[in-house]
Amino acid sequence: MGEAVRVERPFEGVGLVVLDRPDRLNALSDEVLLRVAEGLEALAADPDVRVAVIAGGERAFAAGADLEAFAAQDAGAYLAGPRARAWRRIWAFDKPLVAAVEGYCLGGGFELALSADLIVAGEGARFAQPEVNLGLLPGAGGVQRLVRLLGYHRALAVLWGERTLDAGEAHRLGIAHRLVPRGRALEAALGLARRLAAKAPLAVRAVKASARVALEAPLSAGIEHDFKSFVALFATADAREGIRAFLERRSPAFEGR
Ligand code: COA
Repeated sequence: MGEAVRVERPFEGVGLVVLDRPDRLNALSDEVLLRVAEGLEALAADPDVRVAVIAGGERAFAAGADLEAFAAQDAGAYLAGPRARAWRRIWAFDKPLVAAVEGYCLGGGFELALSADLIVAGEGARFAQPEVNLGLLPGAGGVQRLVRLLGYHRALAVLWGERTLDAGEAHRLGIAHRLVPRGRALEAALGLARRLAAKAPLAVRAVKASARVALEAPLSAGIEHDFKSFVALFATADAREGIRAFLERRSPAFEGR
């Protein structure tokens, strides 16, 4: 199990977290989630990493919670336990996070992909929330995020397990940012990450923070937040560099300050 999650740095500026538990279709045990949280925290703390990618394997991004482990667990301790804590740590990742999805992306696996900022899906990816078939609900953000993404009625069809989305549907519905041939999601996600890593990192991160405010705040409060964020970015060396580079017709060299 110690090897179930790998953390790599494939290119300058890009970190990669890979779920690697193929014999269980990357089922998300507490330990796997904890490793993902630790991996993302290591990438968050690394000043050389500007963007992260999270990927699974060819057959599965992740087939949901580890049901064998769930069968042995007690519900009472859940909220104060390691699993809920790991999810919160994953959601606290404040750099861009791109999910590369191939194959099954089910239950908690779908919720993990939805925890990323952009999803790249390989043809053959299948997204579903089968929890109601087990007597559960998607408890790690799936309900809240899918209702916001799809609207109430379409989301309920997915959340009641009436609708599995293939990669094309996920792309049409705006869940997947890009649809690529089967087996190419990781390569495409790394390409996207590389492009994002070349942009001004403080600005890219500020947009993510602002987009998260947009999910929670009333419009006027969100715009006030953005005003302040804009002013803070205006004072950065990167903004001066970006504007000067445009005027001098050259590529900017951003330093994240
Ligand atoms: N938890 C624990 N083990 C899982 C798992 C999960 N969520 N999903 C798959 N596995 C295991 C299987 O038990 C099997 O183990 P085995 O080889 O020891 O028998 C192995 O992974 C391969 O899965 P298998 O079911 O044989 O593959 P398949 O191609 O026939 O079916 C799925 C694939 C994804 C349709 C099927 O595994 C499945 O329905 N998984 C559970 C999905 C689910 O309900 N997730 C939501 C949890 S909240």
